Amino acid sequence: MITRRRFISYSAAPFLLPKIAFSEDVTFLNAENVKIPLLPDQQPTSLWGFNGSMPGPVIRLKQGQQVNVRLKNLLNQPTAVHWHGVRIKNSMDGVPGLTQAAVSAGEDFLYKFTVPDAGTYWYHSHHRSWEQVAKGLYGALIVEEKNLPKVQHDIVVFFDDWRLSPIGSQIEDFENPHDLAHDGRLGNFAKVLFSNANPAIKRYQKIRLRLINVATDRVFPIKISGIEGKLVAYDGMPIKILQPIKDIVLSPSQRADIIGYVTADEIAFTFDTPNGPYQLGSLKVAGEIAKPKNMEIVALSENDYQAPDIKNAQEHTINFDGGAMSRSMMMGSGVWSINGQTGMPNKPLYTFKLGQTVVLELFNNTMFDHAIHLHGHHFQAVDFGVLSPMRDTILVKAGKKQKIACVFNNPGKWMLHCHMLAHQASGMATWFQIA
Ligand code: C2O
Ligand code: CU
Repeated sequence: MITRRRFISYSAAPFLLPKIAFSEDVTFLNAENVKIPLLPDQQPTSLWGFNGSMPGPVIRLKQGQQVNVRLKNLLNQPTAVHWHGVRIKNSMDGVPGLTQAAVSAGEDFLYKFTVPDAGTYWYHSHHRSWEQVAKGLYGALIVEEKNLPKVQHDIVVFFDDWRLSPIGSQIEDFENPHDLAHDGRLGNFAKVLFSNANPAIKRYQKIRLRLINVATDRVFPIKISGIEGKLVAYDGMPIKILQPIKDIVLSPSQRADIIGYVTADEIAFTFDTPNGPYQLGSLKVAGEIAKPKNMEIVALSENDYQAPDIKNAQEHTINFDGGAMSRSMMMGSGVWSINGQTGMPNKPLYTFKLGQTVVLELFNNTMFDHAIHLHGHHFQAVDFGVLSPMRDTILVKAGKKQKIACVFNNPGKWMLHCHMLAHQASGMATWFQIA
């Protein structure tokens, strides 16, 4: 993380600068053009990124810390940064038109907030996100647990796909009508990007992998080899009953944390396609340390989250309609709708009292799957009265109903939308008011 204090003390190394001169640490995020090698043996791809890189820099904080991030927009269109999954103050949520004005080209904006929950979060553009996230405006936001589990390597693994020409340039069809009405804009090339390109990983070292699906529309069923351990968190939130590292499915925006021991010459990431497994990339392993006697993985400490009061919950059904092969009627000119309305309404879909527990039945009345994301809160799936681990995004399968329970204890205007960004672009978005 680049801070003003560190930058100045580096450039004036022989002198001790009085701390008082710098009352706040500011992390700068410059949204700008970048060129990144994606296709092997082709020219680098022109994309967008932060501080010269794509993904942007990893922002690493301590639980409860305050952060000041100055976004500078060096692009040729407006932008804004959303801190995905963070229980943030509403005015810092980064949603143009709802919580702030978009930051025009050449302008800047100071995001100032604290991070109440430890875990793996991420930041990304929330302005024309279907284009800006596809171009690379994203990065990881890591909040360290107070008792951070000791590991030898802590690596973010970004899962992404791109739609590239044979020479590696991005095809700029971000609002292709067919994509909007079907599965979204899926890439023709996918790979994993790592926060640390060449970590010196040795066999039997203990490592933490923070998986983030940053793709605009693709659901990744993920296979990982070369590591023995447990899945310990979803969407930043620790899970109580640790899960095996297999059959991990991440929809756009979802995360999973894995802690385990390295057991092979490489840690490889693949996903299954109808044409067989697709290689996404791997981390090389060289050398080994003594095999530990105890390779047990323990749960992370929980975040301080309020349990839902199911008995006194309000219940509502939210209908998701539209898309190809749909026969439903909608208001507006979009492709997808929420309770009959396409696109962001002027008035909130619901207003809830601060602290109210609400059970929402999400009814996916379409022929496609949707990754429904709520801002500013986590929620739990409820199936036959049983609560699942907390998440901020849930994949609701085509034609299915899924109940979720949420304590609306963060005041403000919060979006609910499909994180398949082509679906958000074409109408699947709404918001709640919590007061
Ligand atoms: Cu990650 Cu409204 O988004
Ligand atoms: Cu969707």
